[in-house]
Amino acid sequence: IIIGGGAAGLFCAIEAGKRGKRVVVIERNAEVGRKIIISGGGRCNFTNIHTTSENFVSQNPHFAKSALSRFTPHDFLALIRKHKIAYFEKKLGQLFCRDSSRQIVEMLMAECRAARVRVEANCEINAVSQGGRFTVETSRGNFESRNLVIACGGLSFQKIGATDLGHRIAGQFGLNIVRTRPSLVGLVLEGKSNPRLAGISVDALVTAGKQQFRDNILFTHRGLSGPAILQVSNYWRRGEPVTIDLVPEADLAAIFAGEMAGRRTASSCLAGHVPPRLIRDLGDRHIPDKPVAQLNKHEIEQIRETFHQWKVRFRDTEGYDRAEVTLGGVSTSELSSQTMESKHVPGLFFIGEVVDITGWLGGYNFQWAWASGHAAGSAI
Ligand code: FDA
Repeated sequence: IIIGGGAAGLFCAIEAGKRGKRVVVIERNAEVGRKIIISGGGRCNFTNIHTTSENFVSQNPHFAKSALSRFTPHDFLALIRKHKIAYFEKKLGQLFCRDSSRQIVEMLMAECRAARVRVEANCEINAVSQGGRFTVETSRGNFESRNLVIACGGLSFQKIGATDLGHRIAGQFGLNIVRTRPSLVGLVLEGKSNPRLAGISVDALVTAGKQQFRDNILFTHRGLSGPAILQVSNYWRRGEPVTIDLVPEADLAAIFAGEMAGRRTASSCLAGHVPPRLIRDLGDRHIPDKPVAQLNKHEIEQIRETFHQWKVRFRDTEGYDRAEVTLGGVSTSELSSQTMESKHVPGLFFIGEVVDITGWLGGYNFQWAWASGHAAGSAI
């Protein structure tokens, strides 16, 4: 019995079905794979060809290695090619469907049919128990099995069916859960944000802890978003500032040094590197209205810091409604990294996002769903 007809659950079902196991997937929504359908702006960034365990956050970063090495992005690509789904690399190894993410769901369903997997959609789970075998009581009757796979996903996007059932079942069987939090999500500023900046997008180098990401950031009404911010949201810790280099391609100290004989102000040196609204709003306290040649060392250093090392404090994330994933989940210390089976409850497996493995933005989370689903499906 697999609870959850998303990326990981369907993939596990296919693998187990291919090996002749009788498989039922229980899905609460009327259709399976709704997150796949909305993913990647409707084009599903289904994998990343550069995937390694370093692209994931977990209390045990080594845990993902085994499953990822036994089912690689190239293995998934082989399936994509078999089903003649057109795809393209957007950037940095991110592979997207050329036409529609629905093709991924259709492919998974075709594979499920070939492997004789039964899918029960529109099926509400009332209780799960174990007495020798697992019993799952549902709105469509009771199911019994020696093996139970929990593939209910994370807590984000409740409007398309996310629930905490996976975490509750883990708790019911005494498994530890690493504290959860929305991630791959915009961040909300600690102080008041400046509404005049909302909508500005710039290339930036963003650092949280030891992790750095270079990509666009977007000023929002409540804080910052955009790909580089989503990436650092996996690493951001409450109370710790995030450092942002707003002019990563330039060296302001060198530019100012070259202006010592000229008449240009710091603002005019910055123009061309930073949007004028940002120069005005971030720099107004630090940029004296006089030529760079007349600035003292301290003033130059302040301007450099403001744009190369802007320290931003956030009070929160934009929440589960906006988050692509959930950080934390079922502790990897509870599971076998080879099979995803619970170490203490034989026959109980956890796969996909419900586990404390969270990928970067860029196709890594689906690759984890496929790989962990494959690991469990091959082991059952
Ligand atoms: P997933 O969420 O796919 O599936 C869980 C299933 O369980 C769902 O079908 C759900 O309805 C079902 N379920 C939940 N509770 C249940 C219950 N009580 N009873 C029965 N069924 C239940 N990743 C990526 O790599 N590339 C991308 O392009 C994107 N894009 C993206 C966009 C958006 C808007 C979001 C929200 C997320 C992404 N992601 C992504 C993340 C990716 O979608 C996610 O990590 C995977 O879908 C996780 O796969 P799972 O199978 O673990 O969960």
